[in-house]
Amino acid sequence: MSATSAWQELCYTANKDQIDALEDWLFAAGAVSVTLEDDADQPLLEPGPGETPLWDAVRLTALFPGDMDLQPLLDMTPPLPVLETPREPVRVMDQEWTRVWEEQFHPMKMGTRLWICPSWTPPPDPDAINILLDPGLAFGTGTHPTTAMCLRAIDAGLSEGQRVIDYGCGSGILGIAAARLGAATVLAVDNDPQAITASCDNAARNQVDDATFSAVLPDDASLHGALASADWVLANILAGPLIELAPHLISLMAPGGRLLLAGLLSDQVEEVVAAYAPAVNLRVVDQVEDWVLLAGQRTG
Ligand SMILES: C[S@@+](CC[C@H](N)C(=O)[O-])C[C@H]1O[C@@H](n2cnc3c(N)ncnc32)[C@H](O)[C@@H]1O
Repeated sequence: MSATSAWQELCYTANKDQIDALEDWLFAAGAVSVTLEDDADQPLLEPGPGETPLWDAVRLTALFPGDMDLQPLLDMTPPLPVLETPREPVRVMDQEWTRVWEEQFHPMKMGTRLWICPSWTPPPDPDAINILLDPGLAFGTGTHPTTAMCLRAIDAGLSEGQRVIDYGCGSGILGIAAARLGAATVLAVDNDPQAITASCDNAARNQVDDATFSAVLPDDASLHGALASADWVLANILAGPLIELAPHLISLMAPGGRLLLAGLLSDQVEEVVAAYAPAVNLRVVDQVEDWVLLAGQRTG
């Protein structure tokens, strides 16, 4: 990949009512960030408490890795009618992308003990558990609601010495946070080799050693050795793979072990819960916008 075309953008224009669905659709298709701008030079007045106002017509720019084939996405119809769709991707210089992220990505507090901090800003609370993480090719910076809900749940519930499997690890953010919160071992799994590399790099950067943290592809032998061992299985994937993976994820859980599932929308809860019953009694424990977090315990 050349240094000047590491990223590409797709720009859509839509009415504000369509933005949430369009944003979710683009993230699910592999966008690493989505930026919203006024499309009609319409000023926004001071918002009331709890309001997040948007302009009537919004220009939405989605950023994708430069080597991703966007033609299938360009050929697809968005989930709702939009005012304008892109004809082709716009190549983005590395430097511009970095500047955009530095403006948008700030330290984020997750629960009571954890902070996710980019490298270009000093951690606001040096005594907290600070996970240093910059945006990269693998999903997982904490900015997405599904990641944030998982981080808050493990911050609240994980105990020292527990064994964790982070299935669909992306950047490794959940497993690294678990290790820094005191997990004895973390086995991170992803079917994207780039995520394995990113997770190992990010673990090393956060002083998580190889004896505690390893990242492997799903067919790695270490997963056979991990059967019925995990005190926590974390999986932030989409509803389809979560349903397909149900027997496998259940088989990794120790009796009484906990399961956290994210990446599904509120109207997908019933079918995901059914796929894990009766082995795991899942229920909704958090929700941000339309994204829900399911948690449950291995019975028997
Ligand atoms: C939404 S990202 C989550 C990343 C990170 N765990 C987080 O919470 O931000 C989902 C990840 O799951 C991986 N993935 C999708 N399907 C998978 C499967 N069947 N087996 C293993 N990994 C999978 C993707 O490659 C991606 O890295």
